[in-house]
Amino acid sequence: MIEMISTPVSTNPRFSGYAGGAANSAAQRLAEVEFTSEIRISTGIAELDRVLGGGLVAGSVTLIGGDPGIGKSTLLSQTLAKLSDKMSVLYVTGEESKQQVSMRAHRLELKSDELKLLTETSVERIISVAKNESPQIMAIDSIQTVYTDILQSAPGSVAQVRESAAQLVRFAKQNNTALFLVGHVTKEGTLAGPRVLEHMVDSVLYFEGDPGSPYRVIRAIKNRFGAVNELGVFAMTDKGLREVSNPSAIFLSRHEEPVSGSVIMVTREGSRPMLVEVQVLVDESHLGNPRRVTLGLEQNRLAMLLAVLHRHGGIAMYDQDVFVNVVGGIRINETAADLPVLLAVLSSFRSKPLPEDLIVFGEVGLAGEIRPVPNGLERIREAAKHGYKRAIVPKANAPKKSSIKDMEIIPVQRLSEAIEQAI
Ligand code: TYD
Ligand code: MG
Repeated sequence: MIEMISTPVSTNPRFSGYAGGAANSAAQRLAEVEFTSEIRISTGIAELDRVLGGGLVAGSVTLIGGDPGIGKSTLLSQTLAKLSDKMSVLYVTGEESKQQVSMRAHRLELKSDELKLLTETSVERIISVAKNESPQIMAIDSIQTVYTDILQSAPGSVAQVRESAAQLVRFAKQNNTALFLVGHVTKEGTLAGPRVLEHMVDSVLYFEGDPGSPYRVIRAIKNRFGAVNELGVFAMTDKGLREVSNPSAIFLSRHEEPVSGSVIMVTREGSRPMLVEVQVLVDESHLGNPRRVTLGLEQNRLAMLLAVLHRHGGIAMYDQDVFVNVVGGIRINETAADLPVLLAVLSSFRSKPLPEDLIVFGEVGLAGEIRPVPNGLERIREAAKHGYKRAIVPKANAPKKSSIKDMEIIPVQRLSEAIEQAI
């Protein structure tokens, strides 16, 4: 079924640009450029459309990155199956056999009779097949398995990944094919492979999630056609990835009774507020350099917060190891986590649980001041909806009296005030 011919596809590496082959090299005034709004294709999966900024854009290139086994191929098969209903789709897999893909499609009960499969790892041959098929959607799973004949290095090497992707991107742009590239993240966190591709694709989506938890978050960290940091939330089930359209309370670990070191915060990643539990363990250190370990938060930020706690709260942690974990494997990129982290540090340090019905958010400044964060009211409302009764929030975020029923708002301006109120 697959032709083994390989048409020479611009094999000069020096000319493998990223965008389409621009035949028209004359400069033009912006006003003269014909305006066309991009065409959006719904993937049939609302959470994915949301991260893409309202659907897939024809001719766009999307990189899907994440740890091995996190669910990239699962998401791709579900998406491609849905899309193959209404358009031509080519799924190129270099990792799994056709049988494996078919078995999964069967198990997920996907309606994918029209989906075209290709097992191939040579970029030249992939492109030659794609030229014949001219699919509207094409996916390469994964970019680390494909190679181009023009380079000697092994598949997966930086040069191969970059050059192979460049050829595929050029094909996609010239033929107005929407292209998905799957990239594995290496364990070191910074991916030798996919990272080098971020600048040549239109959108970059990364999977986040704790292997022990069923929840998977897809975050847009680059998007030429929409907002970045938008999140799509899924749960991995035995029938594949299921959308979680109301994820506001899934990142909590529901304790039987209050435990020290745990604080519920309201984060607003993307366009939805979410309740997230931050856990901290403070323990006596026997190291000259006590440990500062964070999962789901930036480590340098923790070091900075501990310095503020010392200078403006009078509490020293130089002889304590501090471990921070955000429940559920989600990453928090916003500063609203500052105050919750510090209160969780104190709660663990003093072995004093915080009230169960308390939520906290707020940025902590270097001078010990508590700064407001965007969308304060929306965050407080979300917490109230889930039955929380108390909120320690930056003064500038505090709503006018009684605007939120059944919620005691505790506005704070300084770190010392927050400590006094909470612990
Ligand atoms: P996969 O999509 O193959 O990961 P990736 O392509 O990112 O490497 O997902 C593999 C994991 O997902 C595997 O551990 C099994 C699990 N899984 C389910 O739990 N349910 C399912 O329906 C499927 C297809 C996979
Ligand atoms: Mg896979």
